[in-house]
Amino acid sequence: MTVAEIRRIGVVGLGAMGAGIAQLAVEAGYETVGRDVTDELGHEARDRIAHFLQRKVDKEQLAGDAREHALGLLALTTDLADLADCDLVIEAIVEDLPAKLALFSELEGIVRADSILATNTSALSVTEIAAAVQSPARVVGMHFFNPAPLMPLLEIVRAELSSDEAVEAAYTVGERMGKRPIRCHDTPGFVVNRVLIPLLNDCLRVLDEARVSPEALDTAMTAGAGWPMGPCALVDLVGIDVHVHASEALYEKLREPRMAPPPRIVAMKNAGLLGRKSGRGFYRYD
Ligand code: CAA
Repeated sequence: MTVAEIRRIGVVGLGAMGAGIAQLAVEAGYETVGRDVTDELGHEARDRIAHFLQRKVDKEQLAGDAREHALGLLALTTDLADLADCDLVIEAIVEDLPAKLALFSELEGIVRADSILATNTSALSVTEIAAAVQSPARVVGMHFFNPAPLMPLLEIVRAELSSDEAVEAAYTVGERMGKRPIRCHDTPGFVVNRVLIPLLNDCLRVLDEARVSPEALDTAMTAGAGWPMGPCALVDLVGIDVHVHASEALYEKLREPRMAPPPRIVAMKNAGLLGRKSGRGFYRYD
């Protein structure tokens, strides 16, 4: 039995993706509870949302009072128990299966029996995550793209035991957030990452093969292939750790050599060069 209408959304994990998802939720008029492990992380996320909404006001894409209303819909907490009344909880924590399993198991003990639990995982199996709960019918994937407020696509992922009601409720929320949702099944990488991860890894191998700089490769793919941003800039945006993890997860499942992360990018991850979030990746960010 799934809740008839989603009114209140919980977002767990307020990093770049979670903050973007919380922004979409409040802009769509949902009461939203954002949870991270410290008050500081929550406040950083709220500041980030407030900043991007202010930019929309400055550019006359949003009225000033609509910004205030949206920000007023966002509550912050460090306590998972505060998600008890949420009709839908979207998980956007670290891409670590044991951490997600523990979270889903804990969440199931907190939320109502009719609420939906969604994961924003990029490359883990939604079905494996759903195995952590007693009623896996309530679990779906809602895979947003980075930056979540700007990228139109939302993959609604049906796991092996997801109910039709949970899938359709997630789809409806995505539409109300202004996304272009698609329904897909729980296969490795779903739709976009199944294609994009090996493609980006090919691009990164070409850096060494063709002996070109990141700037030259990015120019090649923007000016020669019409990409909105080059592969090195994109991997910096997504996060080098996130890209390496997604590559490893897909390689583990599909065993296709192109899925494996090139050594160069694994070395960057190990050195703490994580892209925009750490201030340095292929490029430097001040
Ligand atoms: N959150 C909210 N708002 C944001 C934002 C963010 N993270 N980043 C930017 N904005 C807002 C800003 O207010 C900005 O305006 P100002 O600069 O005036 O403040 C406004 O959006 C427009 O930003 P840009 O000028 O940077 O926009 P753009 O036209 O250059 O487009 C882009 C930016 C949408 C990112 C575009 O470059 C693009 O489409 N790049 C490709 C991104 C992509 O492929 N993403 C998918 C990654 S793969 C993935 O996510 C899957 C996975 O599982 C890992």
